[in-house]
Amino acid sequence: MSRLSLSHLRKMKAAHDKIAVLTAYDASFAQRVEQAGVEVILVGDSLGMVIQGQESTVPVTVDDMVYHTQSVVRGSQKAFIIADLPFMSYANVDQAISNAARLMAKGGAQMVKLEGGADFVPVIQGLTARGIPVCAHLGLLPQSVHRLGGYFVQGKAQSDAENMLREAQQLEQAGADMLVLECVPAALAAKIAQCLTIPVIGIGAGAECDGQVLVLYDMLGITPGKRPRFSHDFLQESGGQVSVAIEHYVQAVKQGTFPNAEQQF
Ligand code: KIV
Ligand code: NA
Repeated sequence: MSRLSLSHLRKMKAAHDKIAVLTAYDASFAQRVEQAGVEVILVGDSLGMVIQGQESTVPVTVDDMVYHTQSVVRGSQKAFIIADLPFMSYANVDQAISNAARLMAKGGAQMVKLEGGADFVPVIQGLTARGIPVCAHLGLLPQSVHRLGGYFVQGKAQSDAENMLREAQQLEQAGADMLVLECVPAALAAKIAQCLTIPVIGIGAGAECDGQVLVLYDMLGITPGKRPRFSHDFLQESGGQVSVAIEHYVQAVKQGTFPNAEQQF
């Protein structure tokens, strides 16, 4: 297998080598992203917003995810590919297994990602027992935007922070091989990354995570509307050259200069 493996990513964490992750949704960008040195490409359900123009990720389907995952896989050779399980595609164990199987067997993903805490322990156990690697996702859960009432930082209260750390440990114990933390105070994310042996990838979660992820179109400054505070327009500072912008992002992640103090909570 010519693609990077989970064991490679685990070794990177152990060696304190930062893991650079970006989203991509098509073959052309997947190739640029990989050539710039990104280790992991996430085919995120953020495609609902940045590709489809939806108001949230809620309308994204498994068929959408399979189509974009196939495109990203065709455009890349070495990157480790994670595909998001979209809204309501993993509400029970059987459903999660059949949809994850499609993302892997048909889409070509090496890992699936799902949003949620301890409630998803049985789903993660069911997937991993069948050889499907799982990336968990805590903090701001965009698929739950209608329950959360908006996109806000999560885990600010002491009790919420303790709960998130406990849930992260439960997800690791259930078999999750990676964890994304979204919009979490930097100190809490640092503690979670320290307490877990699996790689913890942050977005809006401070520089102490084992790696960083951004939505590609956010870091190129082409997502319509206001850029999230935790993002940065790497294209503008790179003279408008896409490959250079992505290389700058990778360098900043590797050197630990992204995110800086203003780009975290
Ligand atoms: O869908 C996505 O792009 C994501 C990242 C923001 C982590 O889940
Ligand atoms: Na997502």
